[in-house]
Amino acid sequence: MRTIGFIGSGNIGSQLARLAVKQGYDVVLSNSRDPETLQVLIMELGEHARAATPAEAAKASDLVVVSIPLKNYADVPVEELRGKTVIDTMNYYPQRDGNIAELDDESSTTSELLQNHLPDSHVVKAFNNIIADHLTSQAAPAGTPNRRALPIAGNDAASKELVTSLINEFGFDVVNAGQLAEGWRWQRDTPAYVKALDTKGLEQALADAVRYADMP
Ligand SMILES: NC(=O)c1ccc[n+]([C@@H]2O[C@H](COP(=O)([O-])OP(=O)(O)OC[C@H]3O[C@@H](n4cnc5c(N)ncnc54)[C@H](OP(=O)(O)O)[C@@H]3O)[C@@H](O)[C@H]2O)c1
Repeated sequence: MRTIGFIGSGNIGSQLARLAVKQGYDVVLSNSRDPETLQVLIMELGEHARAATPAEAAKASDLVVVSIPLKNYADVPVEELRGKTVIDTMNYYPQRDGNIAELDDESSTTSELLQNHLPDSHVVKAFNNIIADHLTSQAAPAGTPNRRALPIAGNDAASKELVTSLINEFGFDVVNAGQLAEGWRWQRDTPAYVKALDTKGLEQALADAVRYADMP
């Protein structure tokens, strides 16, 4: 796996691209506009980065990060992502995304929406509970005491292994929270949301999470 594609290159996408280039990956970035609009970021990232359309970024890459407002998830290209691992960083904010019935009644989760949209891809939920700036400021080598841990969820074991190893390279431990349906455990308003926790602390926070319907 040498090339990572980005659908969405804003706060989170650009930070993950910085970590990827630092680790020697090639990156292909895209946004909702002309690829030209990403030139400043491409210049910063250097020769291992280029800008393209979302479909081109998806096609050119072995693994693709989707990091856009959730309300736009249906724009994510389907064919170009067939068979690939897709990291989903998205969170649900009804003020920004509008109301989504399956999320409001807690019958589904954000990454399951994306997985349903991409039935032949392997969606892994990751990087949802860390503030963008902290991706670079809190990254630390493996073995660092109290190294921050990040949760992942996914329905495909091999894709989760791939993402685990990538997150470890990027500078964080990983807690496997299970299937995509468990992704609500680090949605907004949960104990694990945007909090720096090591593996033990994160496991406890995920276990302590309660659904909105069960909140006092
Ligand atoms: N910011 C954080 O600290 C943070 C932390 C964890 C998770 N998240 C989640 O991660 C996602 C991205 O957050 P962000 O803060 O990085 O957002 P952001 O800074 O607003 O960036 C969003 C990116 O998505 C692109 N985009 C929007 N609609 C698109 C479409 N239909 N097709 C292709 N690209 C599209 C935007 O392109 P244009 O500029 O051309 O519109 C922009 O590059 C959100 O779901 C957010 O909730 C954010």
